[in-house]
Amino acid sequence: MSTLLSVGSSELAPIAERCMPFTSSVQSNIKRQVQNFWENSPCDSWFTNEPPGTPAFYRSLDEHRYKVHSRLQSAVGFERTTGLRVLEIGCGCGSEAERFARASAHYTAVDLTNAALSITKRRFQLEGLDGRFIQGDAENLPFANNSFDLVYSHGVLHHTPDTARAIREVHRVLSPGGRAVIMLYYRDSFNYQVNLRLVRRFRAYLLKTELGIKLARKIGHEQMAELQRHKELIRQDPDYLDMQHMLNRNTDGPDNPLSQAFSKASAHRMFCQYTNVKTEVMFWNPNWLPGVGKLLPRSIEDRLASYWGWHLWIYAQKRRLEFAHPVRLQRMAASGVNAQVRSEALVA
Ligand SMILES: C[S@@+](CC[C@H](N)C(=O)[O-])C[C@H]1O[C@@H](n2cnc3c(N)ncnc32)[C@H](O)[C@@H]1O
Repeated sequence: MSTLLSVGSSELAPIAERCMPFTSSVQSNIKRQVQNFWENSPCDSWFTNEPPGTPAFYRSLDEHRYKVHSRLQSAVGFERTTGLRVLEIGCGCGSEAERFARASAHYTAVDLTNAALSITKRRFQLEGLDGRFIQGDAENLPFANNSFDLVYSHGVLHHTPDTARAIREVHRVLSPGGRAVIMLYYRDSFNYQVNLRLVRRFRAYLLKTELGIKLARKIGHEQMAELQRHKELIRQDPDYLDMQHMLNRNTDGPDNPLSQAFSKASAHRMFCQYTNVKTEVMFWNPNWLPGVGKLLPRSIEDRLASYWGWHLWIYAQKRRLEFAHPVRLQRMAASGVNAQVRSEALVA
C-alpha cells in the first residue's frame, strides 16, 4: 500500500498566508508527493481491465469517459481547433489528445509524470498521429511566451499547490487572442458542500467496523480495497476528518495527496489578466444520491449538474493588447490576488 501522505490544512495554511515561492521546501515536497502519486496511477487507467497500451484499453477508456462526461467533447469544441497550436496540461491517458490530433491541431502535451506522457505517446503511435510530449510543471511551463493558440487542462490545476501561478503561466504561453479552457473542482457543488462535508464524514464512522464497510459498499458502490484503505487511514490519522484531508482523499482515491476546490469568484480573480472570462458548471454523479440518484430522469440530472455539479469549466481569452499586461500584473500583485484565492482554495 502506498506510503504517500495527504497534504492537510496545517501544511497548506503557511503557504497561503506567506505566499511562499515554489522553490520553498514545503511546496516542492507537496509537488513531489503529487508527482509520485500520479506516476503510480495514471488518471482513469483504473476504469478498465483491458491490458494497458492496447487499442482495446484506449477504446474502453474513451467509451467510459464520454459516457460519464457527456458534455465534455462539445465543451472543448475539437472541430474548431484545426491548424491551432494546442497545449494540453496534464494529458491523462490521452483521450482529448487523440481528438485534438484528429482535428489536425498541432498538439503538445505537458505533464508532471512520465506515466501519462508514455501512455498518451503509445496511443499516438498506435493511431499514427503526430504530437509532442514534454515532461514539465504547470507552474513553470517549459515554453516561450506566446507559443500556443489554445491551452486546455481538465482536472489538473487543482492538484498543483499554486494554481494561481499555473494560470498566470497559461497566460504567458498563450499568444494574444489565444484561449484557455480549464476545468477545476467546484467548491459550491453538491459534492463538496454535502457529500464531502457531511456524508463522507458520517461514513468515516461507519468504516470503523466490517459491518459498516459492507453497508457503505452497498450504498455507495465503491471498491472494497478503497474502503479498507479508508478504514486504515481513519485508524492512523487523527486529522482524518479535517476538510482538506477529506477533499484530498475523497476525490481521486484515498492516497491522493492534494486536491483543491474553487468558487466562481475565486476563478474570476485568478483569471483577472484575461478577457471574456466565462464559467460553466458540469458533471453529476448519480451515486451522490444513494437510492434515488439512478432513478432521476436525464433532464433533472442535467439541471443538477449545471447548478450543483463538481466541475467548474473556465473559458478565457488572452487580451490582444500586450501593453496592458504589466499594468494588470502590478495591480494583481498589489491586490494580493494569490493570498485571497489560496486562502479560499486551501481549506482551513
Ligand atoms: C486527475 S489527472 C487528469 C488527467 C486528464 N486531464 C484527465 O482529465 O483525465 C491529473 C494529471 O495532472 C498531472 N499534474 C498534476 N500536477 C501537475 C503539474 N504541476 N504540472 C503538470 N502536470 C501536473 C498529473 O501528473 C496527472 O497526470
